[in-house]
Amino acid sequence: MAIAVLGLGNMGSALARRLLAAGREVIVWNRSPGRADALVQEGARKAASVEEAGAAAEVVLVSLTDDAAVRAVVLPDGQPIRGLGGVLVDCSTVSPATTRDEAAKYGEHFVAAPILGAPQAVLSGKATFVVGGAPSAVSNADRVLSDISQTLLHVGDEAEKASVLKLLNNALLMIGVAALADIVAAGQASGFDDAALKDLLTKLPVVAPGLHNRIDLLMDDEHAGWFPVRLGAKDLRLASEAAETVGVEMPVTDFVRQRYELAAASGLADKDIAGVIELLRRKA
Ligand SMILES: NC(=O)c1ccc[n+]([C@@H]2O[C@H](COP(=O)([O-])OP(=O)(O)OC[C@H]3O[C@@H](n4cnc5c(N)ncnc54)[C@H](OP(=O)(O)O)[C@@H]3O)[C@@H](O)[C@H]2O)c1
Repeated sequence: MAIAVLGLGNMGSALARRLLAAGREVIVWNRSPGRADALVQEGARKAASVEEAGAAAEVVLVSLTDDAAVRAVVLPDGQPIRGLGGVLVDCSTVSPATTRDEAAKYGEHFVAAPILGAPQAVLSGKATFVVGGAPSAVSNADRVLSDISQTLLHVGDEAEKASVLKLLNNALLMIGVAALADIVAAGQASGFDDAALKDLLTKLPVVAPGLHNRIDLLMDDEHAGWFPVRLGAKDLRLASEAAETVGVEMPVTDFVRQRYELAAASGLADKDIAGVIELLRRKA
């Protein structure tokens, strides 16, 4: 059973690599063709077009930047990919509205499966997929997703719920990183050395385990991580907009969103989300 991966950024490449490591036949496509080369060296087959990839695979995983990218690739002219042979599994982080449109157009052939976790977590089998869609499509998707991770969180047949949960998770992550940035900046400025501060922060029960891998990234000056500020700002905007459509205000999320948008506009767009700490350092 061939699996296609559309979109070979940090996350799509990790998905393809994990599937290759599991012995799967993998077909890859990316808008900028050079990005497929390393994966071809590792055993993947490069498709010349989205349609070619879609026709040859029983499951098509999608990992693209945002709503606009997903709509351009998965719903060209508002219609499904021509000649799709199997199930489309969108792992991108997008709005519930886009997920709903994908589900409406692909019907029984669509699954939303956004990812909780970094590309490294995908590579090591430790990521979580939040899975929603029609039961028959979900059962086909699960056979492939379970090669990538054993942790599949099913939310039922309303695919958009998977996107809602993913956005809420990321809002919490971004709020946590922004809060930890305050603490690290204040701790460093107060004279704690980094090793002592890190030791303390990893022992404190109020610092969530999911933030531990950001402590080094907050402390150093490069912030060369795996989840860029531009994507973090996107997810906060989507979380806030999704809540607004159901009549809920998220003032804390909105404040943190402003911080990431400011960071993105201040030359930090491609730094890891830990780079938000630079807003504090530059002020000092
Ligand atoms: N990185 C993480 O830690 C992480 C964690 C969980 C979820 N996610 C989500 O996973 C998705 C992918 O993230 P990533 O980290 O892989 O991002 P990325 O490294 O920036 O890669 C983005 C991918 O989208 C493609 N793309 C963008 N606009 C496009 C368009 N209009 N048409 C066709 N392709 C387009 C890019 O193609 P080109 O190469 O041609 O630019 C590239 O393949 C996002 O929704 C992100 O929020 C990321």
